[in-house]
Amino acid sequence: MIELDDVGVSFGDVTALGGIDLRIPDGEFVTIIGPSGCGKTTLLRTVSGLQSPTRGRVRLNGRSPDEARSEGTIGVVFQQHTLLPWKTALENVVFLRRMAGKSPKRADARELLSTVGLAGFEGSRPAELSGGMKQRVAIARALHLGADVLLMDEPFGELDELTREEMGIEVRDLWRRERKTVLFVTHSVPEAVLLGDRCVVMGNDPGRIRTTFDIDLPRPRDGEVFDADAYQERVATVRSSLHADQ
Ligand SMILES: Nc1ncnc2c1ncn2[C@@H]1O[C@H](COP(=O)(O)OP(=O)(O)OP(=O)(O)O)[C@@H](O)[C@H]1O
Ligand SMILES: [Mg+2]
Repeated sequence: MIELDDVGVSFGDVTALGGIDLRIPDGEFVTIIGPSGCGKTTLLRTVSGLQSPTRGRVRLNGRSPDEARSEGTIGVVFQQHTLLPWKTALENVVFLRRMAGKSPKRADARELLSTVGLAGFEGSRPAELSGGMKQRVAIARALHLGADVLLMDEPFGELDELTREEMGIEVRDLWRRERKTVLFVTHSVPEAVLLGDRCVVMGNDPGRIRTTFDIDLPRPRDGEVFDADAYQERVATVRSSLHADQ
C-alpha cells in the first residue's frame, strides 16, 4: 500500500503540489494525467524519495520512500532514459540491482531483455540502440530490480505511435503477470483508460487531484475494447474532466 497524506511540495514561491491524499493498494495500476506543470513528475519524485515533501507524509508499506528505495522496492522509468552510456544493455539491467545490494541474476536479466523484445541486443551500448529500445532497457532494468512498485513518468512520451502501442501492451502484460503496483504518468487519455484500474486527473494552481475515476472495464483490454461503447465513454469522461475549468 502506498499512502500519501496531505503531501505538499513547494519550490520557493511555487507550490508544485498542494496537498495530495492518495491510497494505492498493492497490485493496482494507477494512471495519472493532467496539464503540463500540474506536478505529476514532482508527485512521482516524491513517492520515490528523490524529492522531499514540504509537508505531509509518504509511506510505502509503512516505510519511508528513502528506506523503500534503498531496499530496491521502487523501480523508476522516466521519460528520458538514464542508462549508463559506457555499459551494455545487459550490464545496465543488472547494475541497479547490484547497487541495491541484491545479487544480480544475469540469466534473469537476459530473459527480461528478451521479454521486452531485445534478444540479441544484450551486448549493445545505449548509443547503438533506438529511443524505443533504450526505453525497453530501462523498463527491463526496473523489473530486474525486483521492485514491487513501478513509477513510470511518460515512459513512452517520445516514442512513435506504433512503438508506443507495442510498449503499452508489453507493460500491461508484465503487470498482469507480475502484479506490480504501478503509477503511470501519461498525456494520452486513451492510454490512461486502457492501462489503468484507476485514473487520477490532476489540475493546476496548485497541483492537486481534481478527480479520480475507477476504470471498471473488463480485462484483458485488447482489440475489440477500442470499439466498445464503455471504453469510449470512459475516454470521453476523463477527457472532459481534464479540460473542465476548475
Ligand atoms: N526543481 C524545481 N525547482 C523549482 N521549480 C520546480 C522544480 N521542479 C518542478 N518545479 C515546478 O513545479 C511545478 C510542477 O512541475 P512538474 O515537473 O512536477 O510538472 P508536470 O506535471 O510533470 O509537467 P509536465 O507535464 O510538463 O511534465 C512547475 O511549476 C515547475 O516549474
Ligand atoms: Mg513531468
